[in-house]
Amino acid sequence: ENQVAFLTEIPKCEHHLHIEGTLEPKLLFQLAEKNSITFPQGFPTTHEELAESYNHFSNLQDFLDVYYIGCNVLISEEDFYLLTLEYLTKVSKQGLKHTEIFFDPQSHTARGLTIDLVFNGIQRACDEILAKKGITTKIIMCLLRHCTIEDCSETIDLAEHLIKEGKIHGLGLDSSEKPFPPELFEQIYLKAKALNPKLRLTAHAGEEGDSSYITTALDKLNVERIDHGVRSIEDPKVIARLAKNKIMLSVCPLSNVVLRVVKNVSELPIRKFLDANVPFSINSDDPAYFGGYILDNYLEVQRRFNLSKKDWAIIATNAILGSWCDEERKTELL
Ligand code: HPA
Ligand code: ZN
Repeated sequence: ENQVAFLTEIPKCEHHLHIEGTLEPKLLFQLAEKNSITFPQGFPTTHEELAESYNHFSNLQDFLDVYYIGCNVLISEEDFYLLTLEYLTKVSKQGLKHTEIFFDPQSHTARGLTIDLVFNGIQRACDEILAKKGITTKIIMCLLRHCTIEDCSETIDLAEHLIKEGKIHGLGLDSSEKPFPPELFEQIYLKAKALNPKLRLTAHAGEEGDSSYITTALDKLNVERIDHGVRSIEDPKVIARLAKNKIMLSVCPLSNVVLRVVKNVSELPIRKFLDANVPFSINSDDPAYFGGYILDNYLEVQRRFNLSKKDWAIIATNAILGSWCDEERKTELL
């Protein structure tokens, strides 16, 4: 209907998208076959069965256990290219104009792949979609917080040339949140930033961790943005800080439901963020696992909050302003 057209046409920017999380069950099994990858005992054997299992995650770790198994089927540069192109092609029909793509180098280097192979596959699809559809992209590497500091430090070394050349545009932090607070990674963030002062910084915080994780991500890691951050609502001081300093939250509504951060999207503080002038964008996180891409997330927010066109204009504008594209591109999008 009318609202679907309206929400489709809003120019969208995505800031929270794990490329490994766009691996649809069908492609997962195709690549497993092609690359002769076997799964642990008890792992689903058909794509229907695998997709069905995604309805039963009870928390972040539950999901991550499956997500890391999925990562293992990605082997060649072509695999990463196809994965990324499939995602970009899909969202090109959903009003997406700019996207910032996370990848997890450690999930791949631990299996003997090089960062360059992974990066080149993703970048090739990005170049193609820019030429074909005019969609702009930035690539952000995320460190896995369950890995050791030594491993994270080594990963920065492996990515050094890509960071120095600005090909990797930002650094993020993901995986199991609660046992691994942001402050553990203070030296790692300093080290990465020292390679290139233009490196942008973000971190997952306040998804499962409480609002203090947001504060330490800001204070210790000097991040400019917070991924998820929905638990900021538990502390008015944090909310005031986000609003005052225009720190954007990359909110992922369907993810939060599937991983049981909230029971349904109406429990998210979307209205409260708008009223408190906290900038946020709406994102898909791991769309192949969470039941929808960026437009599905917009639609679910609208279904639950019935926002006005004025509210949507604020959301769209904040997503553009919070993007890490160049200023020229921002002006084009505004
Ligand atoms: N949170 C933490 N780690 C992740 C996520 C997430 O939502 N998606 C992929 N890795
Ligand atoms: Zn995420």
